[in-house]
Amino acid sequence: MNAHAGSGGELQAVELAALRRCLAIGNAASGSTSPNPPVGAVVLDASGHPVGGGATQPPGGPHAEIVALNQAGAAALGGTLIASLEPCAHQGRTGPCTAAIRAAGITRVVFGSADPNPVAGGGSEVLRTEGIDVVGGQLLDEVHRSALGRWLTAIELGRPHVTWKYAATLDGRVAAADGTSRWITSEPARADVHRLRAELDAIVVGSGTVLADDPQLTVRDGAGELALRQPIRMVFDRRGRVPAGARVRDQSAPTVVWVDALPEALRGMYEAGVRTVLLEGGPTLAAAFLRAACVDRVVAYLAPALLGAGPTVVTDLGIPSIGQALRLDVEDVITIGPDVRITARLAASSGPTVTEE
Ligand SMILES: NC(=O)c1ccc[n+]([C@@H]2O[C@H](COP(=O)([O-])OP(=O)(O)OC[C@H]3O[C@@H](n4cnc5c(N)ncnc54)[C@H](OP(=O)(O)O)[C@@H]3O)[C@@H](O)[C@H]2O)c1
Repeated sequence: MNAHAGSGGELQAVELAALRRCLAIGNAASGSTSPNPPVGAVVLDASGHPVGGGATQPPGGPHAEIVALNQAGAAALGGTLIASLEPCAHQGRTGPCTAAIRAAGITRVVFGSADPNPVAGGGSEVLRTEGIDVVGGQLLDEVHRSALGRWLTAIELGRPHVTWKYAATLDGRVAAADGTSRWITSEPARADVHRLRAELDAIVVGSGTVLADDPQLTVRDGAGELALRQPIRMVFDRRGRVPAGARVRDQSAPTVVWVDALPEALRGMYEAGVRTVLLEGGPTLAAAFLRAACVDRVVAYLAPALLGAGPTVVTDLGIPSIGQALRLDVEDVITIGPDVRITARLAASSGPTVTEE
């Protein structure tokens, strides 16, 4: 065991700090790695000093561990590799990370979550066979609240992780009685939505939103410039009502129009490599996702305004009584300009037991 390592499962402060850094590095790569996980890795030298770090590169590029080891070079000898996910042991588009870890002379590996992927998993056993000290299953609560947590949910459920985002007045209206909904929230809150979009693989809306608002659904900066990487735009449109000239069909980002029922469409997205989606409404499609227990996280932007009429955030969920209300766990509440943003999580099993309409 190297100089700074704790014994067995005990982590030193420097290792915990490095693991938190790995989660932050992975968060920053979110939206660019799918179908691969947004992983961060850090290398500590034999005396516990960080000598390398990096994130999973876009598909076909190196995994986070390789980026971090390359940066560390000879300083990795006798050191510790920290990663948010268990290092892979398989030959995919890139070589096994376990082999690179051994070749670099790493003597200890600390990671957050085990890799549930049956093809890539098993790295711990391979490393232990090589005589490397391995400690896994660390900071799991923080892992599950990170970008990697969303990827892990997708693997577990075999469908993309779904974040439902909406902007509403304090009385829960997402548009006025005349159908106008621009702009309920402030400019800083809308800028935050662009940051949220950039972190995810796809943006989903129903045909009703396209017909009402004709949104472009792209990631843009404050000056209105399109970001280099754009999420795929996905429209649920079983009756083919979305016109050819809709802005969502322009050339600024790829677009897929789904005519399938909800579960088939989600399976299709997963098979196409989409691991995270942002459901941007409106109330009819949001209800369909909630009824099918296919919402994992809610990000609500609430404006200090009242309308008293107009569509509410979600249509009927078939919940007859307060005892059956869908309850969420609040993760975060912040103010953005004059508005409030609430981030909350639904348990994987939550959702009314009703069938899709
Ligand atoms: N403030 C906000 O955050 C926000 C966000 C979005 C929208 N809005 C507002 O919401 C209003 C539009 O509401 P909306 O409910 O009509 O929009 P929507 O939920 O985006 O679209 C509804 C349509 O989605 C289609 N759809 C496809 N698959 C579906 C499925 N499995 N289940 C249910 N629907 C499915 C249906 O048309 P087919 O039957 O033809 O498939 C349905 O009519 C507008 O006023 C808009 O401004 C506000």
